[in-house]
Formats: sequence, structure tokens, C-alpha cells
Amino acid sequence: MARRKKIYEGKAKDLFEGPEPGTIVQYFKDNASAGNGEKKAVIEGKGVLNNRLSEFFMLGLQQIGIPTHFIKRLNMREQLVRQVEIIPLEVIVRNYAAGTMAKRLGMEEGTALPRPIVEFSYKNDDLGDPLVPEEYIIAFGWASQQDMDDIVSLALRVNDFLAGTMYGVGIKLVDFKIEIGRLWDNDFQRLVVADEISPDSCRLWDIETGQKLDKDVFRRDLGSLSDAYTEVAKRLGVLPSNVTHTPHKPTLIN
Ligand code: TYD
Repeated sequence: MARRKKIYEGKAKDLFEGPEPGTIVQYFKDNASAGNGEKKAVIEGKGVLNNRLSEFFMLGLQQIGIPTHFIKRLNMREQLVRQVEIIPLEVIVRNYAAGTMAKRLGMEEGTALPRPIVEFSYKNDDLGDPLVPEEYIIAFGWASQQDMDDIVSLALRVNDFLAGTMYGVGIKLVDFKIEIGRLWDNDFQRLVVADEISPDSCRLWDIETGQKLDKDVFRRDLGSLSDAYTEVAKRLGVLPSNVTHTPHKPTLIN
């Protein structure tokens, strides 16, 4: 494959032109950031793990009929995806109170919610991704009412799949974020799960011990982030269970 043109540089991923029109290559970096880029580090192996984990989740979603932008993994750090128009929203689903919700409402982290709650943040780093009501989204034309109904139902289906998958390996899915893209087939629009699904954008707690296995390990200085992600990958069978993580050389199943 010819060397590709970089079209976007993100915090944890770079995007390159794909080999065919309508495709993009996502390159997963080892960079970690939190607090809207205030805290930064390079966590060796994180990009490799997230590439594999995101592939695992996207393929799982496709298997149960949930559309995604994912085409195939290309190598350790890259995956081929369909080019989509990203809706500028962080679609967040919560099963337990944590993070900004716990803070905003003075709730104890880990409080079970009466039902999954879907909320939206406007994707804008300069503003710190502010929470926005559906009313704003529709009024400002970021998405239509029909889009929003479709997005909520997509988000809840993703939640069912992810929560069930995690529960099966002894992990509680506290909350997560997805991004949604528009795909055009001539004049016909489809909404698909885009970006990535990885422990960078989920809260994952061990069911037995409550140990955090997600980016909060980095945000809150709770230990080794690569150990936490390796544990998630091993439990899901994405890494063989007998691998002891060595920061320089994650061992992966092909
Ligand atoms: P939230 O508690 O709103 O924010 P924070 O992570 O700053 O405490 O986040 C809810 C979930 O969504 C959490 O798993 C992190 C994820 N998320 C992202 O991955 N990116 C984002 O820009 C936002 C707002 C949330």
C-alpha cells in the first residue's frame, strides 16, 4: 500500500487517506490524555491494545446487526474504516453514576441508575465538550429528531451488547461514549457507530473487587494503564490469558 496522506491528527489516533475513495485508515497511537488534554503521557502498547479491542467490539456489534464504520484491521496499529460524516456529539450511555454525572448531581460513584441513561456532549475541545440537551442539537441542526431517535436506539443496543459482553468476563460496564457517523448511499443516509470503542472511552470495573480497568487508572493515577487494558483484552480472549504484559512488547494473537 502506498504511503498515505495524513488527514487528521487527534489525541489518541491519526487518520490517513485510505487506499480507495470513501475509506480511511485509523492509526492508534500510544498517547494518553485526560482533562481535555491537560494531562498527557505516552503509554507504550496502548495503541496496539485499543486497535485490537476496538476491532473486537466493532466486529461483535456487526455480528448482531449493528452497523459500524469498521472494515478490517490492517496491522498492529491500523484499521481500515469507511469514511463517514461524524455527528459532532459524544453520545454517552450510563448504567451507574460516575465521573461528571456523579459530580454534577452529588451522587456516589457506582450508584446503580434506575435504567440506562443516554446523554449528549457537544464535541468541542475548546469548550470542554459541554453537555447539551436534545433540544439544542435539533435547533442548531446538528441532527434531526429522526436522527436523535435512531441514535438513542443505536446507543442502547450498543449498551446491551457491551454490558453483556463485559458481564460475561466479570466486568461491570459503568458508562461509555460512542460517536455516530453518517454514511451516504446516494441520497439515502445511514447512521453507523464510528470512531473507536476501547477502555479509553468506557468505565470498566471488576465486578468482584471494583478495580478500575479503564482510562480512570490514568486520569486518577491508580497504577499501570497498560496492565489494566491488557487485563481487559485477556479476559475477552483478545490476548492469550497466559501472557504477562511487558510494556515494550504486547503479545497478540494473529
Ligand atoms: P463523563 O463522566 O461525562 O466525563 P469524564 O470522563 O470527563 O469524567 O464521561 C462518561 C463516559 O464517557 C466515560 O466513560 C468517558 C467517556 N467520554 C469520553 O470518552 N470522551 C469524552 O469526550 C466524554 C465527554 C466522555
